[in-house]
Amino acid sequence: MKTPYDFSNKVALVTGAASGIGLACAQTFASGGARVIVADRQRDVGEAAVAGIRQAGGQADFLEVDVADPASVQAMVDATMALHGRLDIAVNNAGVGGRRNPTDRYSLDDWQHIIGINLSGVFHCLRSELPAMIAGGGGAIVNLASILGSVGLAGTPAYTASKHGVVGLTRTAALDCAPQGIRVNAVGPGFIETPMIANALADAAMTAHLISQHPIGRLGQAQEIANAIAFLCSDQASFVTGSYYTVDGGYTAR
Ligand SMILES: NC(=O)c1ccc[n+]([C@@H]2O[C@H](COP(=O)([O-])OP(=O)(O)OC[C@H]3O[C@@H](n4cnc5c(N)ncnc54)[C@H](O)[C@@H]3O)[C@@H](O)[C@H]2O)c1
Repeated sequence: MKTPYDFSNKVALVTGAASGIGLACAQTFASGGARVIVADRQRDVGEAAVAGIRQAGGQADFLEVDVADPASVQAMVDATMALHGRLDIAVNNAGVGGRRNPTDRYSLDDWQHIIGINLSGVFHCLRSELPAMIAGGGGAIVNLASILGSVGLAGTPAYTASKHGVVGLTRTAALDCAPQGIRVNAVGPGFIETPMIANALADAAMTAHLISQHPIGRLGQAQEIANAIAFLCSDQASFVTGSYYTVDGGYTAR
């Protein structure tokens, strides 16, 4: 779908862009004329995503990254600067769901794995992206939180803590960087039909339960999240920073 926003002359970096919401974001920015960096730890799927964007007439390149590793993230931003000489837009989207277990039985390994990717990963990205944007005179960043950035869900202590952390990190980075012309926002999706929740959707009763939690009467689509992210990264959102923007079919309105 072609975005109504103009991203021509912009360089847009999306982590976790091989799949789901990140892929929809990469396609959306490309449809608006951006030069897109598809960054992911999955090389094959990421390169296929780039081929699809180019086939549709867009500009994209793939970079392999593990957001849990700060050196890998710095190399991703350095490679972006080497390719394009600037960074205007970043969507820090890479994330994992992880196993569900009650807090009293949650393993330390699972905790560190989820926090390392979902929260520290966003921090690593900000730490490398912000200097590049400051050097270029401004930019726009969206971090992927979740509805679980504002409410809890039994059995997800690490995921929920990571997403609450992303909301706080977003607000602080927005305050730190507002004087430099960089806007930083977070998006909080409800349950979106992507590979991340494929296991839950394989269970009909669980699917019906998840749908029942969204007053709008269905789950969301990756493109519906990408549409909100595109707005937040566009010049139309020039006064929006430090916000936590839920796109959840009414999940958190109850
Ligand atoms: N799907 C949902 O219901 C939902 C709801 C709320 C928030 N989110 C958030 O949206 C974001 C995208 O989720 P999605 O549903 O599109 O998931 P997805 O599984 O379809 O895609 C996630 C992508 O991130 C990549 N990734 C994972 N760990 C990585 C790492 N360490 N380094 C680099 N890349 C890595 C994966 O390879 C994959 O391509 C995540 O942050 C997720 O927490 C998803």
